[in-house]
Amino acid sequence: TTYNVVLLPGDGIGPEVISEAQKVLELVSKKSADFDIKLTPYHFGGAGIDAAGKPLPDDTLAACKAADAILFGAVGGPKWGFGKVRPEQGLLSLRKELDLYANIRPALFPSESLLGHSPLKPEIAKGTEFIVVRELVKGLYFGDRKEADLDTPGSEGDAYDTMVYNKNDVQRITRLAAHLALQQNPPAKIHSIDKANVLATSRLWRRVVQETIDTEFKGLEVDHSLVDSVAMTMVSNPRKLNGIILTENMFGDILSDESSVIPGSLGLLPSASLSGVPDGKTRCNGLYEPIHGSAPDIAGQGIANPVGTILSAAMLLRYSLCQPKAAEAIEAAVRKVLDSQDVGGHGLRTADLGGKVSTSEIGAKIVEELEKL
Ligand code: NAI
Ligand code: MG
Repeated sequence: TTYNVVLLPGDGIGPEVISEAQKVLELVSKKSADFDIKLTPYHFGGAGIDAAGKPLPDDTLAACKAADAILFGAVGGPKWGFGKVRPEQGLLSLRKELDLYANIRPALFPSESLLGHSPLKPEIAKGTEFIVVRELVKGLYFGDRKEADLDTPGSEGDAYDTMVYNKNDVQRITRLAAHLALQQNPPAKIHSIDKANVLATSRLWRRVVQETIDTEFKGLEVDHSLVDSVAMTMVSNPRKLNGIILTENMFGDILSDESSVIPGSLGLLPSASLSGVPDGKTRCNGLYEPIHGSAPDIAGQGIANPVGTILSAAMLLRYSLCQPKAAEAIEAAVRKVLDSQDVGGHGLRTADLGGKVSTSEIGAKIVEELEKL
């Protein structure tokens, strides 16, 4: 089998971190007797505007639709910041075109040796390992809204946003979360998060989540909590949330950002946006990217942390190419490198983690460790 993977390096540090993940995927392809990975880069974001006049050029979109999976760096930067077409619009269009309805963000320490970088006390942060599954195409961000008129004398200045979910929306994201739970050994617990004491959409959410698990995934454990209380638990006792956090769009936006500070650097964490159902057997299209942006402040210096992008490539292998062994090997190689020391006794780390090692040196070390596995 040959898998076609589209690379979207994008802008700023995007191309720097993608190039390291590319080396990792090329090695995985070379090492595997069962499959090959063909990697093809396309313009996207600011690079798309420069090359074709728009952030999501037609050939890029066509390639993404035909691909088995997409690995994306980051878009945006001061060069295009005030233009009429913004690089970030390309990302919204791509999500919509591919119906990427689920955003997946793990919060974990790629290596225990990073505990000291967490803003939380080590004994509180230690052992944190959960995945936020956020519904991405419905809810408050997409419902009817009215802007307030504050300039007409006598206007009441009222504004509203509408949160709409239906049974189908909740069922499909619950199924996806359940499949992710089943891919763990033993199966992960699902923590469904809502605000059912106030919101009608949340009462729908709570009931449909429970019924979907009861009828289609007997044996999986699910509990329900209120979002305000979970926001506190996440920083006071995050281990309590280990497993899968399943929630709607806005709650997921806020909780996934809250969770991303736990490991101590934005440069460490991967993410995925999926369509289809990742049941470990059928291919599921997805866009994989580090959680950080294009970091214009450090772009071009070769000091960006490539770990979030390399771990995104591992997620791509797990969810879209159904190659969990290859994914685990990459994660093990990353852990090995973050745990090791260079000759001066410093960690093999980029500047965001207090080290002095360059983007390409970290990438080369991870490739070296992966070669040995
Ligand atoms: P950012 O994530 O690019 O940077 C925030 C801070 O974290 C900066 O100090 C940066 O140097 C640091 N940082 C980020 N990634 C790092 C890495 N891999 N290694 C070491 N340090 C890292 O967020 P910011 O500054 O708010 O946005 C910059 C641009 O990126 C904007 O144009 C924004 O719209 C865009 N952006 C794009 C995203 C995407 O493509 N998915 C997501 C977030 C922002
Ligand atoms: Mg956010």
